[in-house]
Amino acid sequence: MIGLNFDFTNTLDGNVNGGVSFDEVKSISGRLHSFLESFRQSPPGFVKVLENSDEVDKIMEAAKKYGEFENFVVVGIGGSALGVQAIQTALLHPAWNSLERSARSGYPRLFVMDNVDPEHIAALMDLINPSKTVFNVISKSGSTSETMANYLVVRGLLESLGLDPKTHLVFTTDPNEGALRKISIDEEIPNFEIPSNVGGRFSVLTPVGLLASAVVGVDVKAMIDGAKESVSNFISQEDTLKNPVLFNAALHYLYSKKGKRISVMMPYSNALYTLADWYRQLWAESLGKEKDLTGEVINAGQTPVKSLGTIDQHSQVQLYMEGPNDKIITFLKVEKFRRNVRIPKIYEDKKEFAYLGGKEMSKLINSEQEATALALTEKGRPNLTVSFEKIDAKEIGKFFAYYESLVATVGYLYGVNPFDQPGVELGKLNTYSLMEREGYESQRKHIEEIKKTLKHFII
Ligand code: PA5
Repeated sequence: MIGLNFDFTNTLDGNVNGGVSFDEVKSISGRLHSFLESFRQSPPGFVKVLENSDEVDKIMEAAKKYGEFENFVVVGIGGSALGVQAIQTALLHPAWNSLERSARSGYPRLFVMDNVDPEHIAALMDLINPSKTVFNVISKSGSTSETMANYLVVRGLLESLGLDPKTHLVFTTDPNEGALRKISIDEEIPNFEIPSNVGGRFSVLTPVGLLASAVVGVDVKAMIDGAKESVSNFISQEDTLKNPVLFNAALHYLYSKKGKRISVMMPYSNALYTLADWYRQLWAESLGKEKDLTGEVINAGQTPVKSLGTIDQHSQVQLYMEGPNDKIITFLKVEKFRRNVRIPKIYEDKKEFAYLGGKEMSKLINSEQEATALALTEKGRPNLTVSFEKIDAKEIGKFFAYYESLVATVGYLYGVNPFDQPGVELGKLNTYSLMEREGYESQRKHIEEIKKTLKHFII
């Protein structure tokens, strides 16, 4: 794939001790092809949504209006926030919200209100003037406690200042269900739809991720084009050894059978670091399943971990190198950084500095990535490298669609449903009952019973 390349060298048997062989991958090719065929015949919702160009036009139109405000605040959590955060970190200036408006080409500041940490929320409220702000409340279900609580805080603020909710609010939610949908109809609050067949963590390329992106000037059409290109490459390549989705899915599946219970994503780029948060949710919620599709208990999944190069070379890599050999590591690397820094030639007579002088910082960070990858390989620790030719909207779109396709394929190999999240739902139910939500009395009783059976030990 031009622009995004996958180097699997350090995962292969012969290169890394105990690695996966081509024969092992070929042994599951039949299953991979069945999956590919079903993906072609009936594409998942996250693929179908890429064809909805009318929605993109509507988003662009709304973005012009919201772009006039000083702040755009996304109120959402999990799949309703992580995509926007990944896009913001990857594609906007690292200090976007601190720049003068002119240095942001006139676009608003962008904030995400996700956690219900009171200090964090209070601090955000210190920073924004609600009369100059649009709040985009995003919730597929329209009932997630955190998002509803944050919405109430925002709504209370607007009401206390006498500000019109129709001007300062826009909802993004399920087209048919949930409280937010109902409020948007009853109160004529502008709204966007999250298609029913697209789950939270697969929704970044719906209005969930696209509206905020368009408001701050991200080329959302390029992002969609990148995603489409990624899907088209995936479905048009039969050969497992030439298809980076099928091959990577086979690798992660086979390595998990060989005891690699942890999947690390380690970008060597600050801009790509939040993408690793998005990946963690996608991997964890899609593959971490108690039962397979036949109902058998299999406790599937790999624990996704994020690391940042080079920083975590001085924190995590000792463990990756010499601790339990239970990880497969994916490095993210940038070939051509958008900006570069040349290291000055000073102290040329001192060997600790001389080799650095005159070199570009990009060469240093990429050499460190390569050095770490090779050292891990020598130690029998499998690792692969995904290289971005450059970071732009199109490449980020490709990455999103690549990983969504990958996780769907790995889910198929595990025999689980990658699109549900029963574990998350159970946590949500427990929260409702602990917060005394009407209708959850029996769940509350159940929790109280469980608490009684626990032998408490607090020091
Ligand atoms: O992927 C998922 O479905 C979840 O992580 C959700 O995105 C998250 O729980 C937020 O849900 P909602 O958008 O319904 O508020």
